Amino acid sequence: MKLEIKNLKFGYNSTPVLKSVNMVAEPMVTAIIGPNAVGKSTLLKCICGILKAEGSIVFNGKDLKEYRKDEVIKTISYLPQESSTSAVMTVLEATMLGKINSLGWRIKDEDLSASMDTLEKLGIEDLAMRPMNELSGGQKQMVSIAQSIIRKPKVLLMDEPTNSLDLQRQLELFDVIQTITEDNGMTTVVALHDLNLAARYAGNVVLMNGGKVVASGSPASVITEAMIRKVYGVNARVTLDGEGIPQVIPINSTRKCRIKKAITG
Ligand SMILES: Nc1ncnc2c1ncn2[C@@H]1O[C@H](COP(=O)(O)OP(=O)(O)OP(=O)(O)O)[C@@H](O)[C@H]1O
Ligand SMILES: [Mg+2]
Repeated sequence: MKLEIKNLKFGYNSTPVLKSVNMVAEPMVTAIIGPNAVGKSTLLKCICGILKAEGSIVFNGKDLKEYRKDEVIKTISYLPQESSTSAVMTVLEATMLGKINSLGWRIKDEDLSASMDTLEKLGIEDLAMRPMNELSGGQKQMVSIAQSIIRKPKVLLMDEPTNSLDLQRQLELFDVIQTITEDNGMTTVVALHDLNLAARYAGNVVLMNGGKVVASGSPASVITEAMIRKVYGVNARVTLDGEGIPQVIPINSTRKCRIKKAITG
């Protein structure tokens, strides 16, 4: 499903955040990168319809405004940056909730097996019968991810999905995201801070700054030393590996330490 965003504008209490966002996402993994507070989460919330923005969001030629609410829920899955699932239920039950729109009064075998399959895909099947309120932060995050992928949406929006995950889980998660995106022809849009993960796993990188998309394209065309210096204020070394994928080694900040200044005055 092709996702086209044209001249999107949104602000909270009349403070503009998205000033004019234009971007296209095709069926592949698209990474949205950019400094804190540029509006990455706000953009994802507009795409899934939680926030109502000016401008147009078009899925396969049809404007989001023309979709019924149930169609939107069926088409798009959204994983928020902060999700707190602490209700007293098991991981298996919580995962099934991701399919809530297609669940009947009685749980069918196929719903149970879809939940188990999803947990296995993510390598957390041993957690199935554990109560949610006893999980670690990273385990809860994996369950939230299971909820967002169980119904195989056409558009998958994930906001910082690697939050709280250890290094191995981060890589495994992106392997799974890449595989399900390819297998199901999904349009996956992921907001990410880790430029190396974005470079390795995204086919398309969209850079936001100043309320706009300031660059988009292949990882090698967007993730450059000049961009990192200009947008993030960081000197970094960027080399291309054998597959032409950029690898970023941050060196130092080009600005005075703002955190230290805030503490010492
Ligand atoms: N509910 C809200 N009410 C008012 N302002 C908000 C609200 N949510 C976000 N903002 C503001 O909008 C701006 C963009 O926030 P957003 O969460 O979209 O940024 P982000 O790019 O996702 O940042 P981060 O990388 O830190 O997650 C910030 O200045 C933020 O303070
Ligand atoms: Mg955010």
